[in-house]
Amino acid sequence: MDRRSFLQYSSMAALATAMPRAVTASSHAAKRVDMTARAGKAHIVGPDFPATDIWGFNGQVPGSPIRLTLGEAIEAHIHNGLKVPTAVHWHGIRLPNAMDGVAGLTQAAIEPDDSFVYRFTPPDAGTYWYHSHLNAYEQVGRGLYGPLIIDELEPPRVDRDLVWMIDDWRLLEDASISNDFGAGHDRSHAGRIGNVPTVNGRFKDIVKVRSGERIRLRLINASNARNFALSFGDLLPSIIAVDGQPVTPHVQTGPVVVGAAGRVDLVIDMTGDPGSSMPVTDSFYRESFDLVKWVYEASPMRESLLNTPIALAPATIPEPDISHVEPLRIVIAGGAMGGLRRARLDGQWMGLREIAQQGYVWAINDTVGNRLDMPPLLDVARHESVRFIFDNQTAFPHPMHLHGHHMKLLAINGEELSEPRWVDSPLLMPDSTMELAFVADNPGDWLFHCHALEHHAAGLGALVRVRS
Ligand code: C2O
Ligand code: CU
Repeated sequence: MDRRSFLQYSSMAALATAMPRAVTASSHAAKRVDMTARAGKAHIVGPDFPATDIWGFNGQVPGSPIRLTLGEAIEAHIHNGLKVPTAVHWHGIRLPNAMDGVAGLTQAAIEPDDSFVYRFTPPDAGTYWYHSHLNAYEQVGRGLYGPLIIDELEPPRVDRDLVWMIDDWRLLEDASISNDFGAGHDRSHAGRIGNVPTVNGRFKDIVKVRSGERIRLRLINASNARNFALSFGDLLPSIIAVDGQPVTPHVQTGPVVVGAAGRVDLVIDMTGDPGSSMPVTDSFYRESFDLVKWVYEASPMRESLLNTPIALAPATIPEPDISHVEPLRIVIAGGAMGGLRRARLDGQWMGLREIAQQGYVWAINDTVGNRLDMPPLLDVARHESVRFIFDNQTAFPHPMHLHGHHMKLLAINGEELSEPRWVDSPLLMPDSTMELAFVADNPGDWLFHCHALEHHAAGLGALVRVRS
């Protein structure tokens, strides 16, 4: 930098300090978002049914997408217009502990008629989401969630950037939400699996597309517990990011799996004929169904497909060095048809029957995760590399979410991935193991739990402490 440009800088700086804050803030101002968590109505199953009473941010489900550009700060003013306390978690964002939104751990709950301001600057571009983190199995189940998109500075060229926030509702015949939140069967089996799968709050929605169009499709699974395996018919989606973090683009030939809380970013060239239609089908569980339908408009957008690059800039998460790190085995046990006989609850060994009488059925390393003030599963110094082996000894899949960090998924069932990838909510299948590693670089007490929300409520959770 030559002298003249430096002088320019210093006079600008002098000017900046002299100016009132509201003015200087303008170029680096945090984006202010105001949202009220409150009751609302949503037309989920179409005009033949009454609207459904939901809880949503600003009374909507999903809550409006929050969009920032990488480097931009957010200041989210959350008002609680519900009759119950709440708090907002920014799922997948590596943010300061006090902003993580876990009521009872990182902040006090936001009481009815009260507000809380969340301030942070997301360090990574990508697809994330926000949701209630208090009695989440009910509050998320009633609709308290929305997309959080951090745009890259130079996003790949696409014709449209679509967000599909996928959910799974348990509705009664009058389209009202079944109130059996936290039912014993859901807690001990697959979690709350509903009967009305939706995209952006609508059942069997239709998405208009044009032949030749290139779409970036951001899948976000906001279901309490339902996992998805989506098939796109003749289309050849390329996966460009998982759980918000970039991967080397690769065409997915089989179904695209999105576990509860997971995200997958796809780039899809719409190769169907003008005027045709094609469903997107799910086949994760025994019965498959159509989730949404693409309907092509009569006129094509272009004759030959776009050929521009779709790769995202690589992740900027610190790489763990695990050459001298012993793995910590994390055994997940319990649930129906599981082998758990006894475990520690509140520090006491008990038989499963006694534990179940208190509503708990799962354990991590023989410990029921029933409280937020329990001794941590892991206590590490900041910047230490950590190595986990998740071992699912249960009959159900578990999307295991670690707050405040991304973990690098290295191996599944002992087989190393050709391209390890960053994840925050990997779906751990029954009788399976996963090896992951990360740098514990974000100080605080962080929740680590199954994102099948009924499982978490029934004890499938723990704490990870990163000392500062
Ligand atoms: Cu999506 Cu503990 O959170
Ligand atoms: Cu689970």
